[in-house]
Amino acid sequence: MIHIRNASEADFPIIQEIAQKTWPKTFSAILSPGQISYMLDIMYSTDSLKNQTIHNGHRFLLAYLQDSSRSDVCIGYASYQLNYSGEKRTKIHKIYILPKHQGEGAGVALINRIEEIAVSVGDNHVFLNVNKSNPAINFYEKIGFGIIKEEKIPIGNRFFMDDYVMQKSI
Ligand SMILES: CC(C)(COP(=O)(O)OP(=O)(O)OC[C@H]1O[C@@H](n2cnc3c(N)ncnc32)[C@H](O)[C@@H]1OP(=O)(O)O)[C@@H](O)C(=O)NCCC(=O)NCCS
Repeated sequence: MIHIRNASEADFPIIQEIAQKTWPKTFSAILSPGQISYMLDIMYSTDSLKNQTIHNGHRFLLAYLQDSSRSDVCIGYASYQLNYSGEKRTKIHKIYILPKHQGEGAGVALINRIEEIAVSVGDNHVFLNVNKSNPAINFYEKIGFGIIKEEKIPIGNRFFMDDYVMQKSI
């Protein structure tokens, strides 16, 4: 059974731990080790997470799975921003599930929760950026997202994110 709860600053260590365990597997075939560690640092340092949540309106959710001994284990997280740029759409900034728990329904449970919250504040779309080579594109298509454009974003240190923007009506 998967359940979802809101994360707070006290949960930053578990978010950082899951990112460290999930990013290398996700991106080793797509990005250089240097770019992976640079991006982990700029996106997941405690200062960066504080800045995202306190100043930029990002909210984090955690996904839990009940294991065989009936204790809850955190297996993934997502972050989102309602009313992005003052528009009626919600941006999903991050969604990562531990490699050994992918395919167990946590990803779709996190997106469903974000969509419910987005609808409750009057947003009518959810959207996100995904690397053009990330197989997660197939997951997003399966759950109703479509590609709306391409974006090449410089992120410093001569690194780029080479992304599709995908969007879904809610
Ligand atoms: C992409 C990701 C968030 C999906 O979450 P998940 O928990 O693994 O997916 P779910 O179990 O909720 O899958 C829901 C459905 O999508 C399908 N699916 C999941 N990943 C898929 C993929 N890469 N390709 C095709 N289908 C996929 C599942 O088979 C499932 O289908 P079903 O309902 O017919 O069984 C997760 O696999 C992940 O963390 N990947 C690595 C990190 C990443 O790339 N994050 C996105 C960055 S933009």
